[in-house]
Amino acid sequence: MDVQVIERLIKISKEHPLLPEKYIPWELEPGADDIFLPEILNSLHGLKIYDHLTPTQKLELGRHELVQVIASYAWGECMFCLFMTRHILTLPLDSVEHRFILRELIEEFRHQEMFGEAISKLGGSPVKQSGIHKFLGEFSNKYLPADYLFMGSVSVELVTDIYGNYARRAPNIYPVLKKMFDLHNIEEGRHILFTKSLLKTYAAKAGYIKRTSYSYVILFNILFVRTMYVKKEIFERIGLENPDRVFKIASKNFKRKFSDTCLKDIIEFVDEWNGFNLLTRWAWRWVLNAKV
Ligand SMILES: [Fe+2]
Ligand SMILES: [Fe+2]
Repeated sequence: MDVQVIERLIKISKEHPLLPEKYIPWELEPGADDIFLPEILNSLHGLKIYDHLTPTQKLELGRHELVQVIASYAWGECMFCLFMTRHILTLPLDSVEHRFILRELIEEFRHQEMFGEAISKLGGSPVKQSGIHKFLGEFSNKYLPADYLFMGSVSVELVTDIYGNYARRAPNIYPVLKKMFDLHNIEEGRHILFTKSLLKTYAAKAGYIKRTSYSYVILFNILFVRTMYVKKEIFERIGLENPDRVFKIASKNFKRKFSDTCLKDIIEFVDEWNGFNLLTRWAWRWVLNAKV
């Protein structure tokens, strides 16, 4: 790990904290033309059914799906905090890794509070994660070794970062959400640098089998995240007929869109340490539609 780089990241985190309560203009209400999620990221855009939605249904779809996304972030970050809290107990208090993780924990807790605040500002009501998500999330968080959990975390951070970039750069995005994603992008950028630097050593030592399993851990983390965003209940809420059928076509549509928009950075990362091989490439193509 590059100690000097991590020291610099700790310093920035201490000297330039971004407090959601000050950084985000919470008092602003959405304007008449504001949107909550760019069309490129919603699950129905690109399908015929989307063209038949009323403007209000389109806006509501964006609001509910955005709420779902940030509620999923908050839950995932809370779980990662549980792991980091256990992990720092194994590290000396004065080590650079311990000190950075403390900063990361502080920031991640602020993010969770910020996401919760944004959800109530939007009058959102997130759909609870499914039983299988809950089980897999909690099980892997508790029992996977640290290197696998860091692999998983950096993959989720890289993917959600791109997602946030699309959202914050949309010209008519509700300003509260724009600032929320700006803040998240800045702080997650530091977490990604740290984790990548930490993982360099793990990946350098890894042989064929280990690189294969890292690649699978990442793949499943991304699948895990992607399947938390599209929810049948949302189609019911916006008054669509036959929500079960809509859910099926929306999931398929979102799989394609997600692969086109969100996988670039993570594919680059996995490629850096030769995570694509005979045993993994087909799964990336099949499960994530990834062009690898
Ligand atoms: Fe975060
Ligand atoms: Fe993070």
